[in-house]
Amino acid sequence: MRKPIIGGNWKMNRGAPAEAKEMLEKLIPLVKNIENVDVVVCPPFTALTSSIDFVKGTNVKIGAQNMYFEDKGAFTGEISPLFLKAIECEYVILGHSERRNIFKESDELINKKLKKSLSIGLKPIVAIGEHLEERESGKTKEVIQRQIDETFKDISKEEMLKIVIAYEPIWAIGTGKTATPEQAEEIHAFIRELLTQKYEKETADSIRIQYGGSIKPNNAEELLKQANIDGGLVGGASLQADSLFEIVQAAHKTSN
Ligand code: PGA
Repeated sequence: MRKPIIGGNWKMNRGAPAEAKEMLEKLIPLVKNIENVDVVVCPPFTALTSSIDFVKGTNVKIGAQNMYFEDKGAFTGEISPLFLKAIECEYVILGHSERRNIFKESDELINKKLKKSLSIGLKPIVAIGEHLEERESGKTKEVIQRQIDETFKDISKEEMLKIVIAYEPIWAIGTGKTATPEQAEEIHAFIRELLTQKYEKETADSIRIQYGGSIKPNNAEELLKQANIDGGLVGGASLQADSLFEIVQAAHKTSN
């Protein structure tokens, strides 16, 4: 049994400590009795420390949206994974398509970040997904295979079990155009098949694969019901406590 995980990626939308607190204050009581779903909120760096302090003792976890792979040094503007550990940050999103596309992060760089996060015990949520042109030209599986091979290069079976994968078709992110449950499930099943080949079935069956891309309260249940979809990485709908909670409820319902 894979425990579903719902992640809220606030991107650069809600980063003042007071704004974060306002949302978390509403979310915490809503999810307090939900034990069969992991709930992770990922605010910008400016609200991380205050959010981590604020959720202590609750079942809401906090993640960062990015990190660098070096411990320290002359890397102006970057955040060390050790700093995230020092503030007791639990999760980190790596390889989000906005990092890949806008900030030109390569599979190789993401692989370095991934290894670093694992080595210090930060739980990585690693995003992969194809562009619209790649889907339209029938290259989705090829792209996913390359991302799995390169992003997870030299990752052991034991390490793989600590990773959450987020399949996020880029054409569905922030566009209101979600993948249909069938389209998403097809790729999730494909990812699990690749993991079975690379590791073995037992490992592949234990790895959680989230879907991301315009998940909303009105489509969450249909997506989360699919056999290989183990949660969601939610952007826009994670900014409000009520809508994130409705998605958490859908995960709770479909995991029973
Ligand atoms: P969206 O973002 O839900 O706003 O489409 C998802 C994501 O980028 O993780």
